[in-house]
Amino acid sequence: MSKPGDFDAVRKDIAAQLHRPGYDDGSAGPVFVRLAWHSSGTYDAESDTGGSNGAGMRYEAEGGDPANAGLQHGRAFLEPIKEKHPWITYSDLWTLAGVVAIKELGGPDIPWKGGRTDLVDDSKVPPRGRLPDGAQGADHLRFIFYRMGFNDQEIVALAGGHNLGRCHGDRSGFEGPWVTNPTRFSNSFFKLLLQLDWQPRKLANGMSQFVYVDPDAAEDEEPLMMLPTDMALKTDEAFAPWVKKYAEDKDLFFDHFSKAFAKLIELGIQRDEKGVVINTDNKLGGYVSAPKKSNVATGPPKPKGPLRPRL
Ligand code: HEM
Repeated sequence: MSKPGDFDAVRKDIAAQLHRPGYDDGSAGPVFVRLAWHSSGTYDAESDTGGSNGAGMRYEAEGGDPANAGLQHGRAFLEPIKEKHPWITYSDLWTLAGVVAIKELGGPDIPWKGGRTDLVDDSKVPPRGRLPDGAQGADHLRFIFYRMGFNDQEIVALAGGHNLGRCHGDRSGFEGPWVTNPTRFSNSFFKLLLQLDWQPRKLANGMSQFVYVDPDAAEDEEPLMMLPTDMALKTDEAFAPWVKKYAEDKDLFFDHFSKAFAKLIELGIQRDEKGVVINTDNKLGGYVSAPKKSNVATGPPKPKGPLRPRL
């Protein structure tokens, strides 16, 4: 048990949890990044609801959203840390895990402040359908990200999160990694998006994505993939110049990604002039951490069809 508020101790323990031989590409980092993003990406600026405060994914209403399929692994990987530092809220732990993972996997420093509170019941869990659907295009991306308060440049920067990790047939229904080294944060995603010859492919489950089949690859080698939403970044007039800039200039991408991700995890968090969170979502008030939920990755029952979120 660390001293309450000793976030550096938590950071160290998160970093030590990343190495996972036998899980995906050997790191829990990508799923931590997605957990941080999905816990924050429910924000709606107009109604000032959703966002990372609350950690609503502990409840079936949000955790069982098909858009969040697979994130139970990330949450379960973080349980030993919650146990060791019970004073930290889940909402702080999940956002911090994303920030630590990005840094440890070679990405930029991302400013992070603690103080989020956890909801005490599911009455303020945001409605489903607020997260993006990879099967769609540029209009959909704008609809989703403008709602949170992002602009076109920030959308492209954030989409660079796909330098990490992979799609899983049993989670989203899409299949494969975006880059050849999915546990190293870089600007490869943008380079490959522009350079490779992406071909549409219909999967056995009926989903459509884009793949690059390397003619020199061994037969059992997994092709790289792009989602329809990723491809929209290079065909849309306003998104495309940013894809080009980020492909050419890794430092610029890291700088813009860091700023956009820091903004993402602060959406809906209200702080006073000293930086203390003043959100009143948690009726108990103050810095209140929710009790532990589970040590194991439990999720919604497996749906029969593809897990694509229906909007
Ligand atoms: C632009 C709209 C976005 C769409 C449509 C989208 C869609 C997806 C989909 C379908 C997956 C595969 C999930 C699975 O099967 O496990 C995925 C994974 C991932 N996404 Fe996104 N995403 C978007 C934005 C972002 C953003 C903003 C970030 C972070 C900055 C991000 C980070 C990730 C990561 C790290 C993974 C890999 C997770 C893993 O390996 O388990 N995505 N995304």
